[in-house]
Amino acid sequence: MPHDLLKGKKGIISGALDSSSIAWKVAEKAHAEGAQIVLTNAPIAMRMGEINKLAEQIGAEIVPADATSMEDLENLFTKSMESLGGKVDFVLHSIGMSPNVRKGRDYGNLNYDWFLKSLDVSALSFHKMMQTAEKLDAINDWGSVLGLSYIAAQRSFPDYSDMAQAKAVLESIARSYGARLGEKKNIRVNTISQSPTMTTAGSGVPGFDVFFDYADKMSPLGNADADSCADYCVSLFSDYTRMVTMQNLMHDGGFSTAGITDAIVEVLMKK
Ligand code: NAI
Repeated sequence: MPHDLLKGKKGIISGALDSSSIAWKVAEKAHAEGAQIVLTNAPIAMRMGEINKLAEQIGAEIVPADATSMEDLENLFTKSMESLGGKVDFVLHSIGMSPNVRKGRDYGNLNYDWFLKSLDVSALSFHKMMQTAEKLDAINDWGSVLGLSYIAAQRSFPDYSDMAQAKAVLESIARSYGARLGEKKNIRVNTISQSPTMTTAGSGVPGFDVFFDYADKMSPLGNADADSCADYCVSLFSDYTRMVTMQNLMHDGGFSTAGITDAIVEVLMKK
């Protein structure tokens, strides 16, 4: 049930591809909480047309931007300020893509041009967004910038491949840019480390079903779904989390601190 948590706030939400996207849920919930939103995604994602439905539903403008292009990002922040009638209060980076994962390259046989592409799309784009926003002075004081990460930044997961390195870089950027924007403008920067979630990006990882089930059983609360992730994002855009910054926040039903759970013991006992 909405509580006007974001009443009067304006924000940019990237990465809503279809209704299963985490960003899609965030946009719906942020809108329900009173925020005015600009949606953005890569021009290629626009062609699928799904995002138009969301834009219509929440009365948002769409500004296409390839998040690796400084020119596109400059246009994104400039147009967003025009459309929203001022600076933004929050930005969601919900972008990830690895050509190596997509094309099924083994970790011992990576294509390094693709590796660089994974890093650019999934991690450097977070820096590029903030650098552009800072130069254009596009974020209000006490604003909130958020990226989405995964625990493969800290622990090994066989098929996550070079995305593990991308997430490590993403989380590191949140700390470094968080320090800078905190001191300059009281803007906070965090990443949420989310449970495996059934989305286009998620299910693109080989063996996803298996590690989805494993994480579900290894998490005392079960996997956090996209809806609950969106709730957490809203809380981080709201004024109730003004002093939280430079953190990688675990949103995983307890996965990251569980040793073993009864559910896993039960599976192993059956053997
Ligand atoms: P999704 O596939 O719905 O979203 C990924 C988005 O990235 C898409 O909208 C895609 O168009 C966009 N994108 C790709 N390249 C781009 C570019 N060059 N410029 C702008 N946008 C671009 O999948 P999901 O799961 O909602 O992913 C959102 C974020 O959550 C990603 O950072 C992902 O790594 C992260 N995440 C996902 C988990 C999962 O299991 N689904 C678990 C933990 C984190």
